[in-house]
Amino acid sequence: MYISLIVAMDNDRGIGRNNDLMWHLPKDMRFFRETTLDHVVIMGRKNYDSIPLKYRPLDRRENVILSRNKSFQAQNCKVYHSLNDAVESFKNEKERKVFIIGGGQIYKEALDLDIISEMYITEVNSTYGADTFFPDFDVSKWNKTFLFKQEKDAKHASSFSVYRYLKKSN
Ligand SMILES: NC(=O)c1ccc[n+]([C@@H]2O[C@H](COP(=O)([O-])OP(=O)(O)OC[C@H]3O[C@@H](n4cnc5c(N)ncnc54)[C@H](OP(=O)(O)O)[C@@H]3O)[C@@H](O)[C@H]2O)c1
Repeated sequence: MYISLIVAMDNDRGIGRNNDLMWHLPKDMRFFRETTLDHVVIMGRKNYDSIPLKYRPLDRRENVILSRNKSFQAQNCKVYHSLNDAVESFKNEKERKVFIIGGGQIYKEALDLDIISEMYITEVNSTYGADTFFPDFDVSKWNKTFLFKQEKDAKHASSFSVYRYLKKSN
């Protein structure tokens, strides 16, 4: 099993506000889709709720939702009541990666558990006044490589850069 994480954050490490994204950046959306396609995605129940109905479950991906509510269900999604149980259920997974796709609570729990091998982080070059944040992590434990940059244009109100972080072996 190989566990990855993917996130877009602003200059304040902000990732969302009022249970929604704060930006519309089509090329970052496309990067998210292409990177996670055909893999497993694990998300918090609030993140799942925030996805517009017509886009959920996320297509061509196995959708896993975390909720402590034992009666929570969502069509064509697996529901687990702890991150450990969710991850454990994919321990024999060889073909697909397991992507942690947020939100803030799930990112924090996954980083605290130290189960992440790689991270795709989009740095959005603006400040949006978030109420939900990506946790600070120890950059010295990761090798950071630049993937690509999108400049501001008619479809992108902010520029952004995308990086891959690979966990250094202990
Ligand atoms: N910029 C990005 O890349 C990005 C990506 C994803 C999300 N977001 C944003 O992030 C925000 C949502 O994040 P959030 O932190 O508020 O919520 P979240 O992490 O998406 O979901 C939190 C919920 O997950 C469940 N949960 C958390 N830990 C659990 C555990 N250990 N076991 C079982 N269930 C657990 C609980 O659901 P119950 O309440 O049902 O028990 C909890 O209320 C939104 O604004 C969204 O747009 C941004």
